[in-house]
Amino acid sequence: MTDKLTYGMVGGGPGAFIGGVHRAAIRLNDEADLVSWADVIPEGARAKAGAEMGLAPDRVYGSFEEMALAEGARADKIDWVDIVTPNRFHYPAAKLFLEQGINVVCEKPLCFTAEEGRDLKRVAAGHGCLFCVTYTYTGHVMAREARQLIRNGAIGDIRMVMGEYPQDWLLDTLETITEGNRPWRADPALSGRGAAVADLGTHIENWVGYVTGLKIDKLACHLDVFGQGGVLDNNVEALIKFKGGATGMYWTSQVAIGFDNALKIRVFGEKGTIEFVQEENNYLKVSLRGKPPQIYSRGAGYLTPEAAKYARVPTGHPEGLTEAFANIYTDFAAAVRDKKAGKAVNEDDYGYPTIQQGIDGVEFFNKCVDSHEAGAAWVALDEE
Ligand SMILES: NC(=O)c1ccc[n+]([C@@H]2O[C@H](COP(=O)([O-])OP(=O)(O)OC[C@H]3O[C@@H](n4cnc5c(N)ncnc54)[C@H](O)[C@@H]3O)[C@@H](O)[C@H]2O)c1
Repeated sequence: MTDKLTYGMVGGGPGAFIGGVHRAAIRLNDEADLVSWADVIPEGARAKAGAEMGLAPDRVYGSFEEMALAEGARADKIDWVDIVTPNRFHYPAAKLFLEQGINVVCEKPLCFTAEEGRDLKRVAAGHGCLFCVTYTYTGHVMAREARQLIRNGAIGDIRMVMGEYPQDWLLDTLETITEGNRPWRADPALSGRGAAVADLGTHIENWVGYVTGLKIDKLACHLDVFGQGGVLDNNVEALIKFKGGATGMYWTSQVAIGFDNALKIRVFGEKGTIEFVQEENNYLKVSLRGKPPQIYSRGAGYLTPEAAKYARVPTGHPEGLTEAFANIYTDFAAAVRDKKAGKAVNEDDYGYPTIQQGIDGVEFFNKCVDSHEAGAAWVALDEE
């Protein structure tokens, strides 16, 4: 067994959603140990949680600033930091860790503005740091299979993409929101100028870009704010025109009754169609023109090697969210190890979502809001 890597975490304290999933995913790979952590919860609860996570008391911090400076000064620096706070803190926290020469894994959306994202990219490059943005759903084996099938020309040139991502979790919360009691996702100060469009819309945008390689040329978007407590969008419709002529329609919602986490993407090519449904991510539907539709099964021997290598258990034993995260960490840890070994690392070669994908997401949701504010006008995306 090669030496274990070490990592730290910002956010993800008791009761938080995604930090624990990151930790479980990293444990699944058994390649890295958590050694330091910062959260803003009260000191007593923080000390208790830190001890439960097996951390040395002097590596449990009350702020990311304190953690970045203390960890950056150590000879045994962490191999990376995971940033799993509400969106507002991604940019300042990531920047500070990069400035200490520490690689970053950051939750999406990367930050509030594309300029902040480009700044992070510059700082990462300046300090020779790696940067992963955890767009989870590209970690699923069947997302990797879809990507490889498209790269192999299975469905031909792409004509249209339909993406939808409805949820209904916000409905009950909306009715109880008061000023001062607003979930951070519905609070512009913590979420940014987009809610559903940034939280969910960027998952569609990222999955489509990652799997198809298509780049958005321009978009037209309408945002709804349903419910009395809402100040940010909770229902989004966008028309997309890709470079090269393909078109798309994206819909996402936090108030669609009966839907849990129903990300579904259909990619229509000249020769066939690929359909990915996140809640049934162990399968992929592939329809080739003139032939009966086929259901590919994760773990089966006929998958492409590029996807098959990520499957952990045989077909019929479902994998899910944690495994998707773990696959992203498999890719990222490989890049970290190569960098430590002094090899030249081109992050695009490893398979994890890079900082450029994070910037693309931020650009996407800001242009959606710009378009909405201009009466759903067509808005061109900025060149990189
Ligand atoms: N990739 C995915 O599929 C996915 C899924 C869920 C959430 N997310 C993203 O993860 C991030 C966190 O979401 P969540 O649902 O876990 O939120 P959460 O509210 O459940 O947890 C946030 C945690 O961050 C801590 N925190 C808040 N401010 C902090 C600060 N300044 N410094 C340190 N810690 C701080 C909180 O105390 C809490 O422990 C968001 O950016 C969200 O968009 C991504």
